[in-house]
Amino acid sequence: MNLLDTLKSKAKANPKRIVLPEGEEPRTVKAAAIITQEKLARVTLVGNRARIEAVAREQGVDVSAVPSVDPATSPVFEAYAQAYYEARKAKGMTVEEARKVMQDTVFYGTMMVHKGEADGLVSGALHSTGDTIRPALQFIKTKPGISIVSSSFIMIVPDCEYGDQGMFIFADCAVMPAPTAEELAQIAVASAETARVLCGMEPRVAMLSFSTYGSAKHELVDKVKQAVGIAKAQAPDLKIDGELQADAAIIPKVGKSKAPNSPIAGRANVLVFPDLQSGNIAYKLVERLAKAQAVGPVLQGIAKPINDLSRGCSVDDIVHLVAITSLQASGL
Ligand code: ACO
Repeated sequence: MNLLDTLKSKAKANPKRIVLPEGEEPRTVKAAAIITQEKLARVTLVGNRARIEAVAREQGVDVSAVPSVDPATSPVFEAYAQAYYEARKAKGMTVEEARKVMQDTVFYGTMMVHKGEADGLVSGALHSTGDTIRPALQFIKTKPGISIVSSSFIMIVPDCEYGDQGMFIFADCAVMPAPTAEELAQIAVASAETARVLCGMEPRVAMLSFSTYGSAKHELVDKVKQAVGIAKAQAPDLKIDGELQADAAIIPKVGKSKAPNSPIAGRANVLVFPDLQSGNIAYKLVERLAKAQAVGPVLQGIAKPINDLSRGCSVDDIVHLVAITSLQASGL
């Protein structure tokens, strides 16, 4: 069984309540019908019921068993707007403004998660990453002891002998534009956890740079080295090393020659990029040029499971991310 089928069958064992705020979006409606039929999760669509049903008819799917909520007619709308106002009044939020914001289905869906009416949220088929995760950053916040939200992609590269038979974790490719050394260290530790928990991998983390073991001197290289030291102090048992160039990280022969004493060089399966530009470019190139499957971004560090889709996502991508979100919600 491949990883995605394994994740789906694990999700089926304990289906959680996942809210889909883009409830009138065709791929989302289709995915909701499949998820409900396969009992992968208990999804709720946010949107106008008549419009959801019209989209379902156009898509040739049956949503009679898929519940929906509509902020425009919801009996809890006012309570949600008040809760948002309370959470943001120190930032200058007014009740009036909070009512306007809560009409946005992503804010409404995120409030359902915050209030315990749903266990997790998947959005992003229409919204940008920023618009998908901003509500969660504003009032769900991070897990205790964690100060940043970051993300991982599970990359499954066909016909590839590197990583774990072509499986890698790439981070952070979606959230933190310019992490500090401390933040890079948190991204590394969180991504290793994602590799272990979701993919069953034994993480071997490479902190990537344009330099291997001091081959280049630059303040950006120093930052990566510093991050390695911080991550080792935070997680002494973690197999992590850097700074390493990408080839030294994943190709055994190059790792051996450039970093012979490294515990992970040439065998890394978790690749931590130094910033969002390099991470985002790398995952998209590997996805397109190597025809890799990119699952995610799976968000790390948020107190409740909130996950983001790419706007180019397929129905299958939505089904997979809902299964992952349900697994995260079940505390796997
Ligand atoms: N972790 C934890 N908290 C955060 C983070 C973070 N990574 N980023 C922002 N916050 C907090 C802020 O401290 C702030 O809290 P406060 O208002 O209570 O004081 C709150 O979230 C809102 O902060 P803003 O700075 O207003 O948030 P903003 O919306 O401007 O930025 C965001 C956050 C959206 C994550 C931004 O960093 C961003 O746009 N990142 C890039 C996203 C992106 O475009 N990715 C590439 C495409 S994704 C893809 O290709 C799959």
